Amino acid sequence: MPEQTELVHRFRGIPFSTRASTELLQSLDDFEAREDDVLLVSYPKSGTHWLTEILRNLYNCHTENNTTSQVTLTSSLEFGDLSKFQELRNLPSKRLIPTHLNCDMVPVQFKTKKCKMIYVIRNPKDTAVSMFHYYQQNPHLPKIDKWSTFLEMFLKGEVVYGSWIDHVLSWEKKENDENTLFLYYESMKKDLPTYVKEISSFLNISVTEDQIKDISKKSSFSEMKEKAEKEKVNSNHTVCALTADRKLIFRKGAVGDWKNHFTSKQNTQFDVLFKEKINSSVLASRVQYECQ
Ligand code: A3P
Repeated sequence: MPEQTELVHRFRGIPFSTRASTELLQSLDDFEAREDDVLLVSYPKSGTHWLTEILRNLYNCHTENNTTSQVTLTSSLEFGDLSKFQELRNLPSKRLIPTHLNCDMVPVQFKTKKCKMIYVIRNPKDTAVSMFHYYQQNPHLPKIDKWSTFLEMFLKGEVVYGSWIDHVLSWEKKENDENTLFLYYESMKKDLPTYVKEISSFLNISVTEDQIKDISKKSSFSEMKEKAEKEKVNSNHTVCALTADRKLIFRKGAVGDWKNHFTSKQNTQFDVLFKEKINSSVLASRVQYECQ
């Protein structure tokens, strides 16, 4: 296991896990995308694994209905070294490719080939709390014991993948792009079947109402957590470049857990800092901080 100081490095000013190598990050624009690739994008701790499970189940139904070939969920685009590109080149289509990259770093061919992209957004307070616990438990991230220290780092964008708001702002330019679907964690939590349906239409997958119900059930927090407990870790396959251990992912899966962590002073500090920035972002202004 690398020393604490070797777990994170900076690329173009943004902190990254060293599991995303500099040579790979430098070469992202050489990546050969295919028209039918689907990119699954999120800032860390926003529900990436949830989204991948929904897609996996959706395509499973589709395969049963149409006997078409199975899709491949690849490991995270930025995880590993340059051999990653060859590994992905060897995979058959259709590839579902998860990433936490900001929009500017996404390989250019995904944009020129008009690949479909799904970006899931979670409110930044719950995201910060989820990330704090991840930092505590994930051996691939530095140990930050105190919540107050972590929150300061989060507010300064000194955590892996940098500032939450910069990440969302980078994706803002895709807001009216018909090839990009934006989903909100809190809305999915409230009414998953509606969003399973929305994803299926976006990807042109035909599913019945019963299948939508079934997919929503299979993608629920409790079912995913239970399944993860029984799974063996495959260190080469990871949806999130920060770990392949899915047991670290399913913590609470709730909206509003930030209330159990933020002091009232921290909450005010957060709101003051984010207010102005969020006002400049249509995407960020839509986030919800509690179950409504
Ligand atoms: P918590 O730490 O708040 O529980 P990611 O997959 O991007 O790493 O995000 C992880 C977060 O999504 C964790 O949040 C995890 O519990 C939550 N999550 C994972 N699957 C979920 C599901 N099916 N429903 C709701 N939340 C889920």
